[in-house]
Amino acid sequence: MTHPGAEEAREKLLVNLTPELRRDLRIRAAEYGLNMQDAAASSLNLWYDTPSVPDAEVRGAKSWGVYLPSGGPDRFARECEARRLTKVQGMAQAISVWLTAHPSPTERLVAQPVKRILVGNQKGGVGKTFVASGLAQAMAEMGLRVLLVDYDPQAHLTSRMQIPGLPEGGESLLTHMLGEATKHLARSLVALPHERFGGRLHVLPASKDAFLMDAKLALLQVGRDTCLARALAPLEDSYDVIVLDGPPNLGLAIDLAINYVQRRPGELIDHSGILIPVWSDRSSFDAYEMLHSQIQTHSKMTGAVVDELGFVVNAYDARKGVGTRSFYEGWNQLTVPGVLGTLKDAIEGREASDYQIPLLEHAPDSPQAQVMRSLAKELAA
Ligand SMILES: Nc1ncnc2c1ncn2[C@@H]1O[C@H](COP(=O)(O)OP(=O)(O)OP(=O)(O)O)[C@@H](O)[C@H]1O
Ligand SMILES: [Mg+2]
Repeated sequence: MTHPGAEEAREKLLVNLTPELRRDLRIRAAEYGLNMQDAAASSLNLWYDTPSVPDAEVRGAKSWGVYLPSGGPDRFARECEARRLTKVQGMAQAISVWLTAHPSPTERLVAQPVKRILVGNQKGGVGKTFVASGLAQAMAEMGLRVLLVDYDPQAHLTSRMQIPGLPEGGESLLTHMLGEATKHLARSLVALPHERFGGRLHVLPASKDAFLMDAKLALLQVGRDTCLARALAPLEDSYDVIVLDGPPNLGLAIDLAINYVQRRPGELIDHSGILIPVWSDRSSFDAYEMLHSQIQTHSKMTGAVVDELGFVVNAYDARKGVGTRSFYEGWNQLTVPGVLGTLKDAIEGREASDYQIPLLEHAPDSPQAQVMRSLAKELAA
């Protein structure tokens, strides 16, 4: 498994951390234009220079790994011993002190471009559509204007929202990407009618010809890399967030989506990027290696910076055995991008899909809906 800074001399420190502190550190680091490893190292340095620090909350701490400059883990261990603290308490104190010393510069977020999130993983059936849809619903519920794009020719998202697919050759995303459309893409959008979304959640349905996307795009002579950005550009001012539900492959369409969610000039780290639903199993790790490598290759070849926003571990059930639990630990120990949420396999999710009702409408108080809300909160920050 790769990690940022692998080429530098860094050592891994494994220590439990609460999801709240991890999330705050990640967001604040992003707000300050730092990566999480550097923010953690800076937290420890600040803590070493602060003789007396109040106890921090450590209930609910989960395993977490962070790469520190060489010698960092040893120094941290010595300092905890000297202060007669557990490492969990020491790290919680260090991060709390750093967060206090680095208040959120929220005014910097105002001028950010529309947030663009690709929910992607070439592994099939891991919950991309479920997460993309739930996240978009939760974001609209919290007051954001959200465009949910069915970017998968299978049209699962479109059908689960009870929306008809766009006719072949009509005003679809594909015809706009190919430069063949004649009307504004806004005319193809469908607003979800449910009151809780306040008219703020719009869907761009899949079209019947989307299966031809890769083949048709391959024939585009000019402007292929930016054709998705060009097609969606006229809609961007009308939304706070654009969520793309990715297809289960690593074809050309995904490359274009990766390109679309790349960090724009002046855009903060983790403002846009890729959210990756995974399962707690080996094949999900293998799939992630491939996806990560595709993102890296894309960045290398185009110069684009693409943020991996985090994992959502889906359909997790600790009772499935020690393997499942240890892969779950494995995901949690990856500091970057890190696990942003864990969804159990629950009946509400299946029912919402089968009955074609948005999850937050079908089961607004379910644990799954709550996970979607906390995901939305974290990603919207
Ligand atoms: N946590 C969950 N609890 C219950 N049902 C779930 C959960 N996650 C996904 N599902 C259901 O499992 C099925 C597969 O999920 P989904 O369609 O979201 O996967 P996907 O990654 O989008 O698949 P594909 O690769 O085909 O696009 C769907 O019926 C979905 O509603
Ligand atoms: Mg899907």
